[in-house]
Amino acid sequence: MSIELVFATHNAHKAREIAAMLPAGYTMKTLDEIGLHDEIPETGSTLEENSRQKVDYVLSRCTCNCFADDTGLMVDALGGAPGVYSARYAGESATYEDNVNKLLEVMNGIEERGARFATVITLSLEGEIYTFTGSVEGEITTSSSGEGGFGYDPIFLPQESNRTFAQMTMEEKASISHRGRAFAQMIDFLKHYKTK
Ligand code: IMP
Repeated sequence: MSIELVFATHNAHKAREIAAMLPAGYTMKTLDEIGLHDEIPETGSTLEENSRQKVDYVLSRCTCNCFADDTGLMVDALGGAPGVYSARYAGESATYEDNVNKLLEVMNGIEERGARFATVITLSLEGEIYTFTGSVEGEITTSSSGEGGFGYDPIFLPQESNRTFAQMTMEEKASISHRGRAFAQMIDFLKHYKTK
């Protein structure tokens, strides 16, 4: 018997990254696949609060097992910005490209380019809540490189590589990324989980 998990996201990139990692015995559906097309509110002031808020929202609309992630890009020279506001850095309806361009502009001439991505996952499984975290250190490049991935991937160079996330395959990125690391922990937990 398999356990179905709803991934509280509308982001097809994230869903593909994670579906590829799920262990045997689990299936995954996205919000669109369960007919929940609402934009989920993200009004928390931390990644933990936002990922929990996404899970609570889904649980208020379906009886299911559910997980959500929330990610932020923290840039040292900017005191940790854009952080929890990464999706809206260039404004409420900013595109990925707008956000990338704004960050490149703000960082123009700044030599200290250290940054990290951090992800927090909240999982609600058979009525219990579990949390997993992951992060990756790197730096912000001075221009975009690569066509893959999404968000800030074309300007994030992880310490482990001389290529940006956008220049990697999905599998390469997932093997070292913030979300990949957080999900690896969740996957490990799921592999050993004994259903109630
Ligand atoms: P979310 O709230 O977890 O969807 O993430 C907030 C924002 O962070 C997204 O809109 C993206 O701009 C950025 N982001 C999240 N994950 C990644 C990633 O893996 N690579 C690049 N940018 C990301």
